[in-house]
Amino acid sequence: MINIEKSKDIFKNYVEKYDRTNPRIALKIAHTYRVTETAKKIAEEMNLSEEQIKLAELIGLLHDIGRFEQLKRYDTFNDSESINHAEFGASLLEENNFINEFCKDKKSQNIILTAIRNHNKYKIDDTLEGESLLQSKIIRDADKIDILNLMTFEKFETLFKKDEIIDEKISEQILKDFFNAKQTNRQYVKTDMDNWTLDIGMIFDINFKPSFKILKEKDYINKIIDRTKTDEMEQIRKFANNYIEEKSK
Ligand SMILES: [Fe+2]
Repeated sequence: MINIEKSKDIFKNYVEKYDRTNPRIALKIAHTYRVTETAKKIAEEMNLSEEQIKLAELIGLLHDIGRFEQLKRYDTFNDSESINHAEFGASLLEENNFINEFCKDKKSQNIILTAIRNHNKYKIDDTLEGESLLQSKIIRDADKIDILNLMTFEKFETLFKKDEIIDEKISEQILKDFFNAKQTNRQYVKTDMDNWTLDIGMIFDINFKPSFKILKEKDYINKIIDRTKTDEMEQIRKFANNYIEEKSK
């Protein structure tokens, strides 16, 4: 049996070891709580069992547990410049059986670790099945929804270390993939507008109808694109909104 309130207390104690006045730490804590709520909402809307809903919440709470120690050791959230924060987080939970404090059941522990390890992959591991696959998809959706949420309000300065990105070009490959409803590989990114477009294209890797309904309800796509109004972006707006509309039916 998973006790979410107790798990939240343990998580809170864990992050107290880190400097909460550091905005980057504060950002990840806030992200964690929002993702936990979104994962819960998706699982509820899918009519999953009470135990499955709690598991989805717990995975939300633990999915970025590696971020705090990553920042402390490497002073960056950039995985390619440091470590894969998902793998690292799963190892932290395995170390000294830390995971046991959140959940005693071995089968659920394996699902939690698998979902964490899969949450940041470009593509979900195709050997996954059953509950591991389901929970991995839920956390991937919840995480993407919150990244899109961040894009509606986070300063460009924080995201790209510059005031504006609107004057940059969007590369052909990025646009082509977008209008084919395909998630682009990061290797094609040349400009920050490419990054911006690619991140909007995360919608093409969202799995569940309740997730699309949340995107629609919160109006994230319009809010994001209102920050970068260009002719190309208006086409992207139209395409993305149609895609979300179809998927939430
Ligand atoms: Fe993450």
